[in-house]
Amino acid sequence: MLSNVLNVQYGIQGSIEFKEGGAGFSFVHIKNANGEAVISLYGGQVTHLQLKDDEPILWVSPLSEFTPGKAIRGGIPICWPWFGPHSSDPLLPQHGIARISNWSVVNTCLLEGDQVRVILRCDQDRIDQLAKWEGVELELSITLGKTLRLDLCTRNRKREAIVVGGALHTYFRVEDIHQIAVQGLESTHYRDKLDQYKRKFQEGGVVFTGETDREYLDTKSDCILIDKAKSRSLKVSKEGSNTTVLWNPWQVRSEEMADFSDNGFKQMVCIEAAITANDEQIIAPGENHILSQTITLL
Ligand code: BG6
Repeated sequence: MLSNVLNVQYGIQGSIEFKEGGAGFSFVHIKNANGEAVISLYGGQVTHLQLKDDEPILWVSPLSEFTPGKAIRGGIPICWPWFGPHSSDPLLPQHGIARISNWSVVNTCLLEGDQVRVILRCDQDRIDQLAKWEGVELELSITLGKTLRLDLCTRNRKREAIVVGGALHTYFRVEDIHQIAVQGLESTHYRDKLDQYKRKFQEGGVVFTGETDREYLDTKSDCILIDKAKSRSLKVSKEGSNTTVLWNPWQVRSEEMADFSDNGFKQMVCIEAAITANDEQIIAPGENHILSQTITLL
C-alpha cells in the first residue's frame, strides 16, 4: 500500500500520517496542538481543516466524486496554470490540470512554534504533456501552525517567459449563507460574471442573496468571513494575487451540478486567492511565482 511506504519515508509520529481513503486515494493527516488538516495526494487538495477544536472550516460536498479525472468538490482545489476556461482551447479542463493530477511528497518536517509542514509536487509528466508548459514545476507547501498557510510555487525552468494564472479556490463551510458577510472588499471594483462581466463597485461588506460569481480587482486585502449563525469569524489573507473571487452557485446552479448537493449552497462560500485572465503573472526564465493563502480563526 502506498500509505505504508509513505509513512516509513515521510511519517512523523503524532504529527503526520498517511492513510488510504475513498476510491483508493491517499491522504496526509497532519496535526499539532492547535488543530488538524487532511490533504488528498490526488489534486494536492486540502479536504479538511479544524483549528482550536472549533467545527470544521472547509466544506466538501457529500456528493463529491473521488474519481481520477474529476475534481474533488470542496476543500481547497488548486486551479493552475489557468483560471476558468482555457483562453484558446475549450477542450482543455476548466481551472487547469493541477486539481485533477496526482501529487507526490517532496518533504515533511516540524518547524519551530509547533508548525507541521508538508511539501507536495504536481505530477511532472502531466505538466509536461501540456503544450508550452514542459519543464515548468509546481510545488505546494502546506503549513499548519496557529493558522493554515498554503504556498503554491510555480518555477519556470524554461528558456522563455511563461504566463501563469490560477487560484487557491477555498470552499468555506458556513452555517447559513443568508447570515454571513465578507468584509475587506469595500470600495473595490469587481467584474460580475453573471452580468456579462460588467464592472461594478462594491460599497460595503458583501452579503449573499442569490447566485454570486465575482472577480474583485486590484485587491490584496485580507477578507474577514463573518458567520453570525455559527458565531465564528475567519481571516483569509493572501499574497501573490491581485484578484479575489467570491463564488456561490445558489439553488438552481447547484441543482445542475451532479456533485453538488441540492441545498449545499446554503452551507458554503468560496473565497479565492486568484490570478485571473485579467492579471496573469509573467514569470521570467529561472524565476518563481508564489501564490499564498492563510486561514486564521479569529
Ligand atoms: C469559480 C468560478 O472560481 O469556480 C465560477 O468563478 C465557477 O465561474 C466555479 O463556476 C466552479 O468551477 P468548477 O469548475 O469547479 O465547477
